[in-house]
Amino acid sequence: MMYILAPSLLAADFNILGQQILETQKAGAEYLHIDVMDGIFVPSISFGMPLIKSIRETSKQFFDVHLMIVEPERYIQEFVECGADGITFHLEATEHAERVIEEIHAKGAEVGISIKPKTPVEAVYPYLDKVEMILIMSVEPGFGGQTFIPESYERIRQLRNYIDEKGLSVKIEVDGGLGKKNVREVIDAGANVCVAGSAVFKKRSISDNISQFMAAFEEKEE
Ligand code: DX5
Ligand code: ZN
Repeated sequence: MMYILAPSLLAADFNILGQQILETQKAGAEYLHIDVMDGIFVPSISFGMPLIKSIRETSKQFFDVHLMIVEPERYIQEFVECGADGITFHLEATEHAERVIEEIHAKGAEVGISIKPKTPVEAVYPYLDKVEMILIMSVEPGFGGQTFIPESYERIRQLRNYIDEKGLSVKIEVDGGLGKKNVREVIDAGANVCVAGSAVFKKRSISDNISQFMAAFEEKEE
């Protein structure tokens, strides 16, 4: 299994954004997780297309755009045009999941479907052969810096078992409250894309923080 770290931009210092993004890239983070919030699907508002377009000039990373917005179908084309490589939308945010999947693929990006902590894992089963990634939220979406919800381990395991039983290759991403203390348990449960905001940007140096995640991935691969 290949493990990927996706630093969450939400926790970065926006005064020196480009510099910090380059630091994550240099330290080996293949993905950059970009949280878009609309103040409706979640209480807070983050950032949108102009920011993504601008940082696209800085980074070669896979732009993993996490849409926490209602009716994501309205903005797919724009997000791809400004540089998204993958677009993850919330199953709870649209009544047209099939259409959103088709639209994202038609624009040439990878598709992820995300579910909030209280949405049953079974809700994503009908889409597993149509998407590249499932994002299991391990906190209520809306803010960085929250505590990992322990019930998430069982949800990750359930999804991992089901995906393996069906012989599918869809990635499992986990987002919210990840750090060096629980990353091993999260990948042991079956996740292979780990989002981390505070644990990458808010303490010590970005490169040291990332090395700790990379060390956990390497240990697991051995
Ligand atoms: C929460 C966002 C997360 C958040 C993670 O709504 O989707 O990506 O930035 O931040 P940490 O790692 O600090 O929990
Ligand atoms: Zn996120």
